Amino acid sequence: MTGTSTALAAECLRAGKVVGIPTETVYGLAANAFNEDAVISVFKIKNRPFFDPLIIHTHSVEQAQKYVLNFSEHALKLAKRFWPGPLTLLLPKTGQVPDLVTSGSDLVAIRIPDHPLTLELLRMLDFPLAAPSANPFGYISPTRAGHVEAQLGDQVAYILDGGECGIGLESTIVDCSGTQPRVLRLGGLSLKSIEEIIGMPVQLVLSAGSNPSAPGQLDKHYAPRTPFILCENLSEMLLRHRHKKLAVLGFGAFQVPDDVYALNLSTVGNLDEAARNLFHYMRLLDNIGPELILALKVPDTGLGTAINDRLSRAAVK
Ligand code: TXA
Ligand code: MG
Repeated sequence: MTGTSTALAAECLRAGKVVGIPTETVYGLAANAFNEDAVISVFKIKNRPFFDPLIIHTHSVEQAQKYVLNFSEHALKLAKRFWPGPLTLLLPKTGQVPDLVTSGSDLVAIRIPDHPLTLELLRMLDFPLAAPSANPFGYISPTRAGHVEAQLGDQVAYILDGGECGIGLESTIVDCSGTQPRVLRLGGLSLKSIEEIIGMPVQLVLSAGSNPSAPGQLDKHYAPRTPFILCENLSEMLLRHRHKKLAVLGFGAFQVPDDVYALNLSTVGNLDEAARNLFHYMRLLDNIGPELILALKVPDTGLGTAINDRLSRAAVK
């Protein structure tokens, strides 16, 4: 069931059920982080391997401090500036956080989401919420309640409908457990904004392969079912694949033949707008059922870096 009742969502969560929740980044699949059976349900519904840990969502820095041994100076600066917002901090956990949530790691990923309904919900609860993105493992993240309903609707107790996600990309994950902050996942908060606050360049560790430090960095991720190619030169790719049924995900000014279905992430070339549209448009094109989706690379500035990261992971074979 989908609706806007935080009271109903809270009731389900207190009963150990799984609820779809809106955030400013993407929709989450939430459960009481302290209820192991509920957390296990989240992994199962998502078909997510237990080695891939979950982010803890809280409503205040004070609450977050109960789950973190100590906030480093950098972490505190970032939290004060960007929470609530699209920032996840990786910090040493306290004994209160179950190992199941962190997949056995001593570090916990934690954030305060910036969405009025979910903040209201979190304040009604006396436990934090463990929530991965509300999509089947590996598929495109949901940015509308309808996306959650379409794929996981029959497996969740309730979907709290908070409208379209305002940012549309997952949170940026910053590991603040060492002396120098490291970014493990690009996301809705740009590197530049982070560096401005901590006053030094951050290290980017987007390692992939078989043993990723943040499994959101698995090579193949955020992927539609349809084969997907990220291109720098669209006209060349259109020509090369002209005998296939094509769909195009473009940005700014570009041209396609009349018989090719195309969506434009932002006709005016605005990267924030492109981020908001990205996952919805990827789903729309996937559902049309073309043989191949050609996506145009966006400029590598601001949120463009994270958009290109998602596009290139969608394109991994
Ligand atoms: O914007 C977001 O972060 C959304 C919304 C719902 O908050 N959540 C989200 O969760 O994107 P998920 O599970 O799809 O991605 C979380 C990423 C995964 O790559 C996971 O491996 C990493 O965070 N992560 C979580 N806990 C971790 C930990 N203790 N150590 C290292 N990586 C961690
Ligand atoms: Mg995810």
